[in-house]
Amino acid sequence: MKIIDIIEKKKKGFPLCEEEIKFFIDGVMSQTIEDYQISALLMAIYFQGMNIDETTFLTKYMVESGEILDFTDISNDVLDKHSTGGVGDKITLIFLPLMAAAGIYNAKLSGRGLGHTGGTIDKLESIPGFQTNLSIEEFKGKVKKVKAAIAAQTRALAPADGKLYALRDVTSTVDVIPLIASSVVSKKIASGANHIVLDVKYGSGAFIKTPEEAQKLSEIMVEVGKRLNRNICAVISSMEQPLGRAIGNSIEIIEVIEFLKGNIEPDLKEITYALAQSAFEKTGKFNAPQKAREYLDELILSGKALEKFREIIKEQNGDVSVIEDYGKMPQASIKYEVKSDKDGFVSNIDALKIAKACKNLGAGREKKTDSIDYSAGIYLTKKFKEKVQQGETIAIIYTNKKSSIKESEELVKAAYEYSLEEPKEKSLIYKILN
Ligand code: URA
Repeated sequence: MKIIDIIEKKKKGFPLCEEEIKFFIDGVMSQTIEDYQISALLMAIYFQGMNIDETTFLTKYMVESGEILDFTDISNDVLDKHSTGGVGDKITLIFLPLMAAAGIYNAKLSGRGLGHTGGTIDKLESIPGFQTNLSIEEFKGKVKKVKAAIAAQTRALAPADGKLYALRDVTSTVDVIPLIASSVVSKKIASGANHIVLDVKYGSGAFIKTPEEAQKLSEIMVEVGKRLNRNICAVISSMEQPLGRAIGNSIEIIEVIEFLKGNIEPDLKEITYALAQSAFEKTGKFNAPQKAREYLDELILSGKALEKFREIIKEQNGDVSVIEDYGKMPQASIKYEVKSDKDGFVSNIDALKIAKACKNLGAGREKKTDSIDYSAGIYLTKKFKEKVQQGETIAIIYTNKKSSIKESEELVKAAYEYSLEEPKEKSLIYKILN
């Protein structure tokens, strides 16, 4: 078999067979296929696509390119919730303690954020001392003990994805559904959980822009996951506006703690509860949505979910006193209030503009090696549907970079849209695919 024949076949739009896909991934791993040939095949896939059989084989051999975690000695019901990423998306950090408090094991491996704000790992690392670089044995041990652990993605799992992703990144072949689906699902399968809940976002603050595209991607990820024997579902939701009020790293952790203390932002609740209901159905805990919602309310009101978050922080060497004293979290030296130029009701807050403003303040990174300012971020004092008067504060900028304030302020102001009449409530959930 020769790679040039495989490239030629895909270039002409023919589907590749299992042996050809295995040959490709083996060649990627053994470095017997050159980067320029891998890139050529990726570009051919970009233009010609892959059918569901090809996408499944690609995912399977990416999984088999490295270690596969196994939790069957702990439980046959281990859950992994994965978000495709968004602005102010701290849902994983609310969801995990809730699920663990409900008695469900959660094994969560997560990437470091590349982009406008940090990823889940960055947010957690804003808690002083919090350790996310865990060995596989440490990770499993913590899942067993606390029922939830969150660790940085290890290179040992689905390493073929790491190699392909690095080339996709520099050859403009990231945004193609079969490659995104195999990349996401291979990492999830290698992470060992048998129940997978995908939190798929679309909109200005997500890398998928339309609900139709998000649905297409979700259908393929769910089908591939099922074919590879995982109990998988996808909740598709809007990321047109930031989630919650805090966007950054340490300020998002504070918002998570507030939620678990019962100070709940409705948009965070809507997404978290939809994901939790799906997780309850998958794991067989509850099927009745109303019962599930009441149970989730009870886990928050009783403080059990907050206690679980405390346990997770403690087990991963974080400073648990942050729960009572937010002054222990990294603090920005500058707090700057952005004022509204207009009167009206907030009818939209463009998530992408807010994300760009945050990155400008130091909350995100461009390259993997860039450092991140955990204290930088934006707090939205006014959200969708809320009434604003000219001169009123709409957002607070937190930063240590004085020079970044003006540009971020302009971006924040440009992100806000207003209407004269109060806009109608909209559901954030587009579809749930089981
Ligand atoms: N996230 C991933 O893990 N892989 C992709 O290809 C895109 C987003």
